[in-house]
Amino acid sequence: MLQFLSLATALAAGTLPHPASAAGLNEAATAIGLEYFGTATDNPELTDVPYVAQLNNTADFGQITVGNSQKWDATEPTQNTFSFADGDAVVSLAEGNDQLVRCHTLVWYNQLPNWVTSGNWTNATLTAVMENHITKVVSHYKGRCHHWDVVNEALNEDGTYRDNIFLSTIGPSYIPLAFSFAAAADPDAKLYYNDYNLEYGGDKATAALDIVAAVQDAGAKIDGVGFQAHFEVGTVPDSASLATILTSFTDLGVEVAITEADIRIELPATEEALVQQAEDFGALAEACVGVEGCVGFTIWDYTDRYSWVPGVFPGFGAALPWDEDLVEKPAYDGLLEGLGGEAE
Ligand code: XIL
Repeated sequence: MLQFLSLATALAAGTLPHPASAAGLNEAATAIGLEYFGTATDNPELTDVPYVAQLNNTADFGQITVGNSQKWDATEPTQNTFSFADGDAVVSLAEGNDQLVRCHTLVWYNQLPNWVTSGNWTNATLTAVMENHITKVVSHYKGRCHHWDVVNEALNEDGTYRDNIFLSTIGPSYIPLAFSFAAAADPDAKLYYNDYNLEYGGDKATAALDIVAAVQDAGAKIDGVGFQAHFEVGTVPDSASLATILTSFTDLGVEVAITEADIRIELPATEEALVQQAEDFGALAEACVGVEGCVGFTIWDYTDRYSWVPGVFPGFGAALPWDEDLVEKPAYDGLLEGLGGEAE
């Protein structure tokens, strides 16, 4: 609480750059050639009326990502029994606003129900389970997902495949298989591989390039690579380096997007850190704008009120462009400038 009081005091005293917007983030993004600027959201937040009012603001958000309710544990909690109500609620909200939808995510090691992780599978039976899951979920949302994150976080930091039930039972071919099942169920959705820490280049990014090539070589459809962009303040590469990494992917004929951006700060957040965060968000946005084939920019929820960061990175928070009181932070103007908009 203290850190937010001191932030409020600093804002009141005018010691922070005044967060003002000549245009919204989505307006700036689309004006400069991106498809959208967007945010993730999650069902428990949708009862928060002021929160939803800003979520509905299409000047800032032209796209919504379904934060949790399309994951395997939510959609198929018991085998072949599907539950879509929560995912439907987020998708319907976005459609009501004419916002694009990023559907998230089909095959991931995390948030899997026990029946999947503890099943006694063979290659053939787990492949059938994966095909059934992907087919049912993608078919349910057919025509409504602009993007699908088909495979999420399949890599370790050293570029080896992350151990998971799919890798150990099926082998690396689970990745192209997942893409081909998704393409069969909705040929028009843009199908993505999505991961974090690709932004620095190196072994993990090289391995992600290899995943794109492997899916293509298998004859399956892959349309894009999502750069999650979960950062600690001060560790964001400069925009030129970021653009080089993004371009190494678009050179393979796929698009790229910033899919889950947040920039965490050790609490309490200092004025200096908030200004650095604004620069970091700006560099990320500038990099995307500068790369033909970088189609959009999504933050992992928009307000510190609902960030996943404090729960996962103890001692850190303040990672998003709006504070806990839904007030724009300097990061908002940093993004706006990175998107070529005019911050006052
Ligand atoms: C996070 C959600 O925000 C949390 O609510 C949940 O408890 C765990 O998952 N990478 C992803 C997202 O692809 O799905 C994760 O979302 C954050 C990291």
